[in-house]
Amino acid sequence: MKYQKHVFICTNQKPAPKKCCGEERGMALVNAFKDKLKEKGLNIEIRAQKAGCLDVCAFGPALVVYPEGVFYGNVQLSDVDEIIESHLINNQKVERLVIA
Ligand code: FES
Repeated sequence: MKYQKHVFICTNQKPAPKKCCGEERGMALVNAFKDKLKEKGLNIEIRAQKAGCLDVCAFGPALVVYPEGVFYGNVQLSDVDEIIESHLINNQKVERLVIA
């Protein structure tokens, strides 16, 4: 496997009033993950990138972490550090954000 962890962050946009993660909000998360992983020197083994709709729109902003296939919902910029530290580095899911 090329990456130890691979994070796909939804940046999909739908016309209002449909709920979606939104390109702008999603891109803010993508950039935050990329910046923090680089800052920590983890951007070689862990990749974060934008994705289309993950089919969990009602729970957005959403992302999924592989290889575990754990989906997170209502992810805010303030959650990025916790997801990196807890899940991406220490393999502990951030339970409060997991989409069941
Ligand atoms: S629009 Fe983000 S999961 Fe569907």
